[in-house]
Amino acid sequence: MSQRVQFSSVFIAIFMGTALIIGALLLNQQRPTLDVNQPNGSFVKATGKCATCHRRETSAVVAQYEQSQHAVKGVSCLDCHKPVGTQEKVDHKGFMIAKSLTSNNCAECHKTEVDQFLRSRHAAPSWGAVSGAKDFTAEQIAFAETYHKGTVNRPPNKLAMLEGGAAIKKGCASCHDIGKPNSDGSIGRCTQCHSRHGASVALARQPETCGQCHMGPDHSQLEIFNESKHGVIFRSQKRSMNLSKAPKELTTKDMSVPTCATCHMSGLEGLKVTHDTTERLSWFLFAADSTKRPGFERAQVEMKETCKKCHTTKPIDRFYKEAEEVLVSTNEKVEKAKAIIDGLRKDGLLTPEPFDEPIEFLYFDYWHYYGRTAKHGAFMGGADFVQWHGNYELLKMLTEMEHMAAEIRRAGKHK
Ligand code: HEC
Ligand code: HEC
Ligand code: HEC
Ligand code: HEC
Ligand code: HEC
Ligand code: HEC
Ligand code: HEC
Ligand code: HEC
Repeated sequence: MSQRVQFSSVFIAIFMGTALIIGALLLNQQRPTLDVNQPNGSFVKATGKCATCHRRETSAVVAQYEQSQHAVKGVSCLDCHKPVGTQEKVDHKGFMIAKSLTSNNCAECHKTEVDQFLRSRHAAPSWGAVSGAKDFTAEQIAFAETYHKGTVNRPPNKLAMLEGGAAIKKGCASCHDIGKPNSDGSIGRCTQCHSRHGASVALARQPETCGQCHMGPDHSQLEIFNESKHGVIFRSQKRSMNLSKAPKELTTKDMSVPTCATCHMSGLEGLKVTHDTTERLSWFLFAADSTKRPGFERAQVEMKETCKKCHTTKPIDRFYKEAEEVLVSTNEKVEKAKAIIDGLRKDGLLTPEPFDEPIEFLYFDYWHYYGRTAKHGAFMGGADFVQWHGNYELLKMLTEMEHMAAEIRRAGKHK
């Protein structure tokens, strides 16, 4: 009897001990470590002079850098921070570093991406949309105009000027500086989608990254994506996806639902990776009156190629056909509203100046918020945006504009 008790207590002790060790091992595995973002599972500890000192001074910079592919591949702090071309230099703790960094510092190693970016509307046209041509060299203007006519060679934006310098700086410019020219002759900084030190494709593939700028009533792409089937599934399955897979090797196994980057940029299943976000677009959706872009056919084929990595042909063609019907009907509605404004102006009942009469704001909201939203919703799967944030508002505002125009005409007669 006592022998049996002894035997079972030894057994229990061994069992408990093993369980504790296994438990501890499991816990240890689950403990978050700094190397979570490293695809190869290694954590890089930066040891150079810059990193050693900056771990004391600005530790977050070093922590971010240590998670990047740059740290894995041995790209040093100075590789990015050294002055290139005509950049202004400063002596910093015995090192010559550039006073500020631009896309030229990345171009040393990533020329393809920089060249594609320069052809996109994210480059010069973005800055031109706010500030016009004044900040660009003649060469930069000529380059941008060959790809996107009328986007840089234009006057500064009227609305921005009315709102004033402080508002432009913290408002318009904070989004549109993605294409701001730099004093070394380059454009942009490449950090909006990649960050300064994290430099990862995983970050760039998050919808929120694009949503820093692509949100709000005039370009609700993030909100539309979030309510689309794609957005809903992405959020629920994100943890099982391999968002840091190299673009040239990205498959539908790594990402079986698309984010903004997948449709507009990624090299999914052997497609061409591109930093020219214009390449796969066939319509000018943001315009009051949406027309076909140059290269309409090619662009639409390229976007559909992306869809067809995951879908069959028929539903995709139907999807485009129905979205294009929304586009045509939105154009007709905007045409009607525009006729009201044009009529009043022709009859001398409105000044030639924009944004100095209430009905002009109504018309601006009409196409710029609700017209765009209806079209963007139709092309990216946001039913609520086609309907309640789009067409319902269009109907309501057209009625308001008609009443307001009648008022103005009545008042005009009595003058
Ligand atoms: C001996 C310490 C030390 C070393 C070595 C060092 N830094 Fe710094 N660095 C600093 C300090 C201190 C600041 C200022 C921090 C502040 O303003 O709060 C700074 C600021 C900076 C800034 C901000 C711009 C500026 O001029 O204020 C950059 C960029 C920078 N360092 C990069 C580097 C790089 C790249 C290296 C290596 C080539 C490096 N640092 C080496 C201590 C150091
Ligand atoms: C991939 C390129 C790249 C690498 C590698 C890199 N940096 Fe930077 N760093 C940048 C960019 C871009 C900025 C923003 C500079 C600007 O706006 O002029 C920046 C800014 C900084 C700043 C100023 C940060 C602030 O918020 O004020 C410091 C300090 C700095 N870097 C230190 C370092 C150190 C230390 C390392 C190495 C551990 C390093 N950097 C590696 C690209 C890089
Ligand atoms: C929250 C970020 C953000 C702010 C703030 C912002 N924009 Fe934009 N803007 C965008 C995005 C994103 C687009 C692209 C919309 C699309 O293509 O659907 C855009 C498009 C435009 C366009 C149409 C494209 C073109 O090249 O003609 C103009 C003009 C424009 N913005 C001017 C301005 C002005 C002027 C301001 C300030 C009064 C401003 N934006 C504020 C993000 C912003
Ligand atoms: C000295 C060369 C060098 C410079 C300068 C440099 N990079 Fe890189 N970059 C690399 C290398 C090497 C890799 C790893 C590429 C690979 O594994 O194929 C890389 C990878 C990347 C990646 C992909 C990361 C990932 O998650 O797979 C991004 C994004 C990137 N760099 C952005 C930048 C940006 C933005 C700048 C400028 C601020 C910059 N790089 C400056 C050499 C450089
Ligand atoms: C820092 C702000 C910012 C971020 C971040 C940003 N964009 Fe943009 N994007 C803009 C602006 C501004 C425009 C409008 C440019 C113009 O036409 O004037 C634009 C335009 C576009 C266009 C339309 C291009 C055209 O030819 O009309 C697409 C598509 C686009 N962005 C996709 C993306 C994607 C995908 C991401 C994320 C991977 C992203 N953007 C991140 C600011 C941004
Ligand atoms: C399922 C693929 C898909 C996803 C995901 C997607 N888009 Fe789009 N996007 C499209 C299509 C299709 C169009 C219309 C293309 C055309 O004009 O032929 C479009 C149009 C646009 C435009 C309009 C340019 C203009 O003319 O006004 C912008 C900007 C844009 N997308 C940004 C984004 C952003 C930002 C996200 C993520 C928040 C996103 N897209 C997610 C497929 C997608
Ligand atoms: C509008 C957002 C955006 C901007 C701005 C941007 N990138 Fe990217 N970048 C991305 C996305 C998204 C990917 C991943 C594409 C994919 O999913 O296949 C990427 C991938 C990369 C890669 C990896 C490419 C490869 O094939 O391995 C490099 C390197 C890179 N970017 C450098 C840059 C440089 C340099 C700039 C500045 C000219 C820049 N990026 C500006 C969004 C951006
Ligand atoms: C990376 C893969 C991928 C890409 C690229 C992709 N989709 Fe999807 N899409 C999906 C998945 C997965 C679903 C959810 C299917 C399900 O319900 O099982 C989906 C759902 C949809 C739905 C909703 C279907 C329904 O009845 O609920 C539409 C519409 C759609 N996609 C259109 C498009 C269009 C248009 C494009 C290209 C502009 C595109 N998709 C690109 C993976 C993708």
